[in-house]
Amino acid sequence: MFKIATFCTLTVSTEQVLYPLVINAGKLNKLKEFSALNKPAFQIGTHQFDSKVILAPMAGVTDRPFRELCRKFGVSLAVSEMVSANPKVRDTAKSQLRLNYRGESGPRAIQIAGSEPKLLAEAALINQRDGAQIIDINMGCPAKKVCKKAAGSALLKNELLVEQILKTTVNAVDIPVTLKIRTGWSKSNRNGVTIAKIAQDCGIQALAVHGRTRECGFHGEAEYDTIAAIKQAVTIPVFANGDITSAKKAKYVLSYTQADAVMVGRAALGRPWVCKEIDQFLQTGHIIGKISPQEVVGVVIAHLKSLYSFYGEYMGVRFARKHVNWYLKDQPSGIKFRKIFNQLESSDSQLASVRNYFELLLNGEEKTA
Ligand SMILES: Cc1cc2nc3c(=O)[nH]c(=O)nc-3n(C[C@H](O)[C@H](O)[C@H](O)COP(=O)(O)O)c2cc1C
Repeated sequence: MFKIATFCTLTVSTEQVLYPLVINAGKLNKLKEFSALNKPAFQIGTHQFDSKVILAPMAGVTDRPFRELCRKFGVSLAVSEMVSANPKVRDTAKSQLRLNYRGESGPRAIQIAGSEPKLLAEAALINQRDGAQIIDINMGCPAKKVCKKAAGSALLKNELLVEQILKTTVNAVDIPVTLKIRTGWSKSNRNGVTIAKIAQDCGIQALAVHGRTRECGFHGEAEYDTIAAIKQAVTIPVFANGDITSAKKAKYVLSYTQADAVMVGRAALGRPWVCKEIDQFLQTGHIIGKISPQEVVGVVIAHLKSLYSFYGEYMGVRFARKHVNWYLKDQPSGIKFRKIFNQLESSDSQLASVRNYFELLLNGEEKTA
């Protein structure tokens, strides 16, 4: 049975820790232990994060409803989908939806992509004005659409341009700027460590590293040696990303790389609770039980409702199809259901069919129990 545990977070200010220096050594040691126990998992600027689980930015997926859902499952930082820094693209309806983070529980981290330092700085400034609390720069995406314009991971080839982009953007805003990279351009040119050092020198405050090169795309397995080398080379927080699919894998990657947190992407598609499984295991060493079908249906229904409310009926129904397909990808009976579900044109019929599907599933389970 899947249970959501609540954690009590106590924040200790520097004054609270330093002031009692006049009191006896025993008490001081206790205070030191206390403050170490309550140390945040990592920090970006003044933002403190209690969980070592971060949601990877995923275009077409990590919209506001999905970010908020994953936060409920223990994600501490949920980065937005990337938005182009190009003003022509920035102002499209699609980009505006991606930039809709008003009212979102923070910290609101917005990812921008582009190759022109001035435009990236401008985009960062606009987002700061609109309520972003962290700006993330995308140098990790291998998509042709992005790379053709020498943005995303294509930039890793041009270290001088990387430096100009990072310096200009960091200097343009008062909020922290973070960076997402791959381990390098190609297997024969893994310059992740050099890029990481440039980033730190330019004032970047945290670095997420996907353990593949641009050339690898999504092929092969992520490698963590370069991430470990990057962690050794810089003092800013480093987040390990790539193929983190379970609590045990997350623990292994954290221990192997010494990274400050793990960034989870595809494993959360249709399985946002994997973030809670990872968070719980990292915090307590216990693997929590499997989520029950009753709980899954509750999550799916709440997710669909938030999609309808965020996108409106027409687009909400279309986004819901994608997510329901992911939720049911491991259910043998899901294939037939998905075909029917994908034909449904209204939110009411989608909700009713999801409820019906899970009711049948539960009845079937009860009968076989
Ligand atoms: C559908 C999809 C969309 C993505 N969009 C972005 C994006 O907008 N920005 C970005 O930096 N990375 C993007 N990525 C890459 C992920 O953030 C992540 O680095 C990659 O999926 C590896 O992590 P994983 O193995 O946990 O999925 C995307 C990945 C997927 C699957």
